[in-house]
Amino acid sequence: MEDPNFWLERWQNNEIGFHSEDVQPALIAHWPTLQIAKGARVFVPLCGKTLDMAWLSAAGHVVVGSELSPLAVDAFFAERKLTPQTRLQPPFTIKSAEPYDLWCGDFFALRKNEINAAAAYDRAALVAMPPNLQPRYAAKMAELLPAGAKVLLIGLDYDPKEMQGPPFNVPQARVRELFGKDFDVSVIDARDGLTKSEHLKKRGITWLEEASYLLVRHA
Ligand SMILES: C[S@@+](CC[C@H](N)C(=O)[O-])C[C@H]1O[C@@H](n2cnc3c(N)ncnc32)[C@H](O)[C@@H]1O
Repeated sequence: MEDPNFWLERWQNNEIGFHSEDVQPALIAHWPTLQIAKGARVFVPLCGKTLDMAWLSAAGHVVVGSELSPLAVDAFFAERKLTPQTRLQPPFTIKSAEPYDLWCGDFFALRKNEINAAAAYDRAALVAMPPNLQPRYAAKMAELLPAGAKVLLIGLDYDPKEMQGPPFNVPQARVRELFGKDFDVSVIDARDGLTKSEHLKKRGITWLEEASYLLVRHA
């Protein structure tokens, strides 16, 4: 893994500019087109305490999140006024309150039978990975998801000369390169992402493309 302290300290210091008080418009717009059955388990890698998980639960899904920081996991449940049950499955601590199962620990330590999801949603997960870890991230997603599984992935592209990640810029060609071996990759939508990203605008970027992808796991 990258230095875990980087993210743990971000949560300790409440430097969580990536967290949004709104559900991602791309999730609301595109998730229904994936036609994932109600009741299906949806994997949310690097989930933070995103409200998107609450939206997925309201859409009828069981949500399986992966998150390094116990602060994020605890905040997610506290903000929903849920008291989770805790179980240990080393190296993970799993906190659960229906319909959420949040696996606290390193995403790269997860194993396929532990997740058992029919679909996944990636916002600010791939792009949180530095370029050298992105191939491992893509390979892990392929390992964790069964054939036919669908992923809604939100990617960001900007001029890397204007800002240092995270989030890292992942152009469309790079998404195809990373996932193309194990997934069918299609672009659902690509649009300006800067207008709604005040925290990134302040860091000096002058353009930002937010692209939504559908990935379908090959057999
Ligand atoms: C940029 S944030 C995005 C959070 C969430 N997806 C959202 O949209 O708000 C990335 C999250 O990944 C977590 N993280 C980073 N590396 C991780 C790893 N190896 N395993 C699990 N979680 C990790 C961080 O603690 C952080 O909460």
